[in-house]
Amino acid sequence: MDIASPRKPLIAANWKMFKTPAEACAYADALLPLVAGHVRDEIAVCPTFLALASFAESVKGSNVLAGAQDMHPEKEGAYTGEISAPMLKAVGVTHVILGHSERRHYNHESDWDVNRKLLAALKQGMTPIVCIGEVQEEREEGRTNDVLLRQLKIGLDGIRPEDAGPIVIAYEPIWAIGSGQSASPGIAEETHAFIRDAVRERLGDAVADGMRILYGGSVKPSNTAFLLAQPEIDGALVGGASLDPHSFADIVKY
Ligand code: 13P
Repeated sequence: MDIASPRKPLIAANWKMFKTPAEACAYADALLPLVAGHVRDEIAVCPTFLALASFAESVKGSNVLAGAQDMHPEKEGAYTGEISAPMLKAVGVTHVILGHSERRHYNHESDWDVNRKLLAALKQGMTPIVCIGEVQEEREEGRTNDVLLRQLKIGLDGIRPEDAGPIVIAYEPIWAIGSGQSASPGIAEETHAFIRDAVRERLGDAVADGMRILYGGSVKPSNTAFLLAQPEIDGALVGGASLDPHSFADIVKY
């Protein structure tokens, strides 16, 4: 990302369905000294719901923030198995991933579901990380931009520019997730620029220029610097390589 950029990079770990509460605390104990004093980037770690409270407690007062991997749009109610934003906030959670491709795929989350969650997260003062991205076939057929535009159009529906400041977008090409092969810095940069233009058209210059657009998909210590050297890439959402605190710390300190 550009040194002159006003956007503070965000490096976020998405643990997916890994680690018990005890393992999450051990991770926090290992990570904190490795990134102590690191202020260049915002650092967030997103454990499972079960491990969130103990992880948030372990990193309290440090430069590592706790995030959730999802949330329900309602504050409370008869929604078996769900967790709401006020519940997350009550245990010190500040960030929340919304619309991850795995939730869209396995849990059939729609763009409208993501939109409802985004509106709720903003209302609750959380930092939402909204995931968008295309599958391999869509890229090969030249439909990437159409897919991203649809995800953004619906995902950002009803968002007012004055409320959009906290929104983070994560571009995660689905073909790169868990593949070991990230998008090339060139492809990622070009796609991020397209996303920022689309945000500009909907929400104006100030929002677009301030919005952090993260890249996700096989980010690892060896490719982070190449990806984050791109002016349009404002951080990373890291899956597999975030599970080891040393590897994640290397990514944070790229
Ligand atoms: P990997 O880093 O394991 O490819 O996962 C990316 C991802 O889905 C992060 O949300």
